[in-house]
Amino acid sequence: MTRSVSDPVLEVRGLSTSFFTDDGEVKAVRDVSFDLAAGETLGIVGESGCGKSVTALSILGLVARPGRVVAGEILFKGRDLLSIGREELRQIRGRDIAMIFQDPLSSLNPVHRIGAQIEEAMRAHDKIAPREVRPRGLDLLRQVHVPDSARRVRDYPHQFSGGMRQRVMIAMGLSNRPEILIADEPTTALDVTVQAQILQLLRDLNRDLGTSIILITHNLGVVAGLCKRVIVMYAGEIVEEGSTEQIFDSPQHPYTWSLLRSLPRVDADRHERLRSIEGLPPDLIAPPQGCKFNPRCPFRLERCFSEDPELEPVGDGHIAACWVTMKRAYAEMGAGSLVDTGPGAASGVRPPIAPVGPDLSEPEGQGLAPEAHDRD
Ligand SMILES: Nc1ncnc2c1ncn2[C@@H]1O[C@H](COP(=O)(O)OP(=O)(O)O)[C@@H](O)[C@H]1O
Ligand code: SF4
Ligand SMILES: [Mg+2]
Repeated sequence: MTRSVSDPVLEVRGLSTSFFTDDGEVKAVRDVSFDLAAGETLGIVGESGCGKSVTALSILGLVARPGRVVAGEILFKGRDLLSIGREELRQIRGRDIAMIFQDPLSSLNPVHRIGAQIEEAMRAHDKIAPREVRPRGLDLLRQVHVPDSARRVRDYPHQFSGGMRQRVMIAMGLSNRPEILIADEPTTALDVTVQAQILQLLRDLNRDLGTSIILITHNLGVVAGLCKRVIVMYAGEIVEEGSTEQIFDSPQHPYTWSLLRSLPRVDADRHERLRSIEGLPPDLIAPPQGCKFNPRCPFRLERCFSEDPELEPVGDGHIAACWVTMKRAYAEMGAGSLVDTGPGAASGVRPPIAPVGPDLSEPEGQGLAPEAHDRD
């Protein structure tokens, strides 16, 4: 089958990745599916530990033991990256799909000059002609606005500030003109001004070079200015996906709604306390039955404790996995004026008293109890 230009450049289908630890199987990513179109900017958002980085590492074949992709397909221009050879994948990584991490210092080699490291990134692949490598290295540093770049190519990583190192990482990531750039919390360690500059830089790169960008962040505020579409993850799963307008103006999953409420607001009274989401994300070895957000959800119903909702359309190109959805929560549970956002506060629904588990009662007159067999 021939591919058309409008086909997604990346298709993730039913991706599940687990870590097989001594305590059990940590289901870090479960049944995650999404597309990335050529030139698109996609945000992946959620609290720490919800599976964002593991999703990115799975795409690049970088999940380390005891982790492993247990199911799914990752199609890059129609080719499944999970079924190609190690060397072929190594070539795609860095050349066609590049990744930049939160902590550039751990990804840069402290004993090599910045310029040499950018050049090395190009020499590792054969996309850039050898005679172009050196001038391109310098050009890239200029492109990412490293001042006095002709001199600074000879510096070592420790001579750069955090923001400048992140620019170097972006330059390295872009060195082979990748089609996809995955930026995992690229601004988290930086102060607000530098953060804004890096985001501006990513915006320019997307506009000028058409690079598709996946921006991963725990901060929903960061995606607004860069991404056209947003995926919200909770406990290893996608719970909502929509255009940035849909996610910000009309979130349908209570978790997305809670994330938005916990964002600092520019127009808010400075003394207003930041509202954080009560409770913690669940244990990924033994998550709660039913909807995994039920221990923290103000709008939960009885069925949320036993039945896990699937992603369903809630608007044009907008999907969410929730039995209630915010439309109903506003109409029937007064979500608009809710002061107490604690678990079950809006619906009044408490968790079932007895934990749901296997029925261990022994039917009458049915022979020996299990312990009696053990003693044989
Ligand atoms: N090496 C590992 N061993 C066991 N569990 C891991 C490992 N790496 C990640 N995890 C688990 O996978 C989950 C998802 O992690 P991650 O994708 O890094 O979250 P984040 O959304 O913050 O990027 C976490 O809950 C974490 O406990
Ligand atoms: S209403 Fe139910 S299904 Fe929806 S997020 Fe809350 S607990 Fe989950
Ligand atoms: Mg992460």
